[in-house]
Amino acid sequence: MARTLALSLLTLPLVFAAQAPTFKAPSEGPLIPSPNFGGPSNGSLSKQPVQTGLMFDRFIQIWLENTDFATANSSPTFQSLAKQGVLLTGYYALTHPSEPNYVASVGGDFFGMHDDNLYNIPANVSTIVDLLEGKNISWASYQETMATDGSLDFSEDAPDYVDGTGTYTYYVRKHNPLIVFDSVAGNTRRRNLQRTFNDFAADVNASAIPQWLFVTPNLVDDAHDTTIEYASQWLEFWLLPLLKDERFNDNRTLILLTFDENETGSVNNQILSILLGGAVPEAARGTADDTYYTHYSSLSTVQANWGLGCLGRGDTDPKMANVYDLVAKAIGHDGNNDLTGSSDLPLTNLSGPIPGPLNEAVYVPFTAQNANATCANKAGKVFVAPGVDLSLTADKAPAAVNLTALNENVPAAGNINLSATATAPGSSPTSPGSSGPSPTSGAAHTMVNLAVAIIVATFIGLTL
Ligand SMILES: *[C@@H]1O[C@H](CO)[C@@H](O)[C@H](O)[C@H]1NC(C)=O
Ligand SMILES: *[C@@H]1O[C@H](CO)[C@@H](O)[C@H](O)[C@H]1NC(C)=O
Ligand SMILES: *[C@@H]1O[C@H](CO)[C@@H](O)[C@H](O)[C@H]1NC(C)=O
Ligand SMILES: *[C@@H]1O[C@H](CO)[C@@H](O)[C@H](O)[C@H]1NC(C)=O
Ligand SMILES: *[C@@H]1O[C@H](CO)[C@@H](O)[C@H](O)[C@H]1NC(C)=O
Ligand SMILES: *[C@@H]1O[C@H](CO)[C@@H](O)[C@H](O)[C@H]1NC(C)=O
Ligand SMILES: *[C@@H]1O[C@H](CO)[C@@H](O)[C@H](O)[C@H]1NC(C)=O
Ligand SMILES: *[C@@H]1O[C@H](CO)[C@@H](O)[C@H](O)[C@H]1NC(C)=O
Ligand SMILES: *[C@@H]1O[C@H](CO)[C@@H](O)[C@H](O)[C@H]1NC(C)=O
Ligand SMILES: *[C@@H]1O[C@H](CO)[C@@H](O)[C@H](O)[C@H]1NC(C)=O
Repeated sequence: MARTLALSLLTLPLVFAAQAPTFKAPSEGPLIPSPNFGGPSNGSLSKQPVQTGLMFDRFIQIWLENTDFATANSSPTFQSLAKQGVLLTGYYALTHPSEPNYVASVGGDFFGMHDDNLYNIPANVSTIVDLLEGKNISWASYQETMATDGSLDFSEDAPDYVDGTGTYTYYVRKHNPLIVFDSVAGNTRRRNLQRTFNDFAADVNASAIPQWLFVTPNLVDDAHDTTIEYASQWLEFWLLPLLKDERFNDNRTLILLTFDENETGSVNNQILSILLGGAVPEAARGTADDTYYTHYSSLSTVQANWGLGCLGRGDTDPKMANVYDLVAKAIGHDGNNDLTGSSDLPLTNLSGPIPGPLNEAVYVPFTAQNANATCANKAGKVFVAPGVDLSLTADKAPAAVNLTALNENVPAAGNINLSATATAPGSSPTSPGSSGPSPTSGAAHTMVNLAVAIIVATFIGLTL
């Protein structure tokens, strides 16, 4: 109750002048434990044997939020990073808003999703994790300011270290893609590989970070609630020192720094991405690559590098799943279909009309992947998990129905298992049972106003 009222007060600053937030480092350093990094570390992972890839042995993707290409490209930090790597000038997100882009990056499809709601994708829908584990390639996802490893919470609040008063929603499930899949959330070992940034520090210290990493900074550090300047300062704080740390970035490490989507929905969805890391050859550093890529390219590239096959979904799309040119050249992959200069790019700014099992207005049940499709990476076959009924193909799916008109929701929405949900000590998460819109305190830090902050703090102080 107190939280709800406090949140409604937070909407007040909209009428005040916007004020740029000042970056506040969540810790003294990327490897120094801090409550702002999330729950305390449970110790490091054990060191796993390294499975050698064709071009790299570790792939790290770091996702920032909602920024147009030109905006990111105007940041001196991004300009400087681009000089150390390859700037991808033909890279597009897949749709709007956030969650479907994240989900597609690990599952090869966004299943018609067009919102940031609470979903549980059935366990027979595979992800990159199934492919990695098939070859014993270690993996983890690191989520900043998540309260416990493997959290199923829809969102979590933590003490507001930026303002220094009250609490703030730093962690959201919609930016933690693998936990949306029951094949991960419903398996304790896999679930607990969604780790906090304190675990990240412990894992780096132990030289035990895995071979495939997904990294999500919190809602202020990733620019979601702040600005590109704020996120740039976070990169200076977090990424720059790590780039010099062999335990994170050695000469077999490839890093993708990217954004989930661009900010302007009325135009196609170009975002800025940079390939970094010791695996980028000297000669390629400071160059630009205008090949057409999407979030499916990170699947294809990883699959091609380790010969993983594919998921039989967007990663079989011959236009949208090009392998990064740098990698394609190094491994002799010649399957790319470059759309450079094409006036006919796929429209990736659509949100809503795409039918699927997560679209309540144009609902079609989950179907099997196309097991006969050719992987865009040309490196193996479509993976099929045990128990998948391959006869339930897309062409046999029933006609789309409008569940909203029937007053129903999609079956995969909102049915989180409450008794399996961990709740952070001292936090008051949004009801995990609701499938409502994303947390309302988003953007608070872009319009933070001292007077209102004091009112909220006083209010919380009075009611706690
Ligand atoms: C993965 O590791 C297990 C256990 O060590 C081993 O039995 C299996 O053959 C390995 N699989 C691959 C593809 O290397
Ligand atoms: C550490 O592990 C314990 C027991 O498995 C669990 O209850 C706790 O939530 C974990 N803490 C974090 C920060 O993940
Ligand atoms: C990692 O190592 C640094 C330097 O030795 C140390 O200050 C820090 O506390 C360590 N972090 C963790 C999580 O153990
Ligand atoms: C890469 O790093 C390893 C281990 O530090 C070293 O032995 C090797 O010579 C390096 N290779 C290149 C091409 O720099
Ligand atoms: C998507 O982008 C195209 C090309 O810029 C534009 O014509 C179209 O109106 C946009 N669609 C939406 C829904 O904004
Ligand atoms: C969003 O992407 C389009 C390319 O599709 C690009 O032209 C545009 O600059 C980006 N942002 C804005 C604000 O238009
Ligand atoms: C895949 O090939 C098998 C055997 O040829 C066939 O029975 C099946 O219908 C095909 N599936 C699809 C999705 O085309
Ligand atoms: C996936 O699992 C669900 C739930 O168990 C089942 O209803 C569905 O038919 C399965 N889909 C496929 C393609 O096997
Ligand atoms: C679905 O039904 C709702 C409620 O009747 C309606 O508002 C909406 O326009 C319909 N959507 C589609 C795509 O038919
Ligand atoms: C919910 O999770 C708990 C704890 O993991 C488990 O014991 C229970 O069977 C689950 N309930 C349902 C309906 O899945």
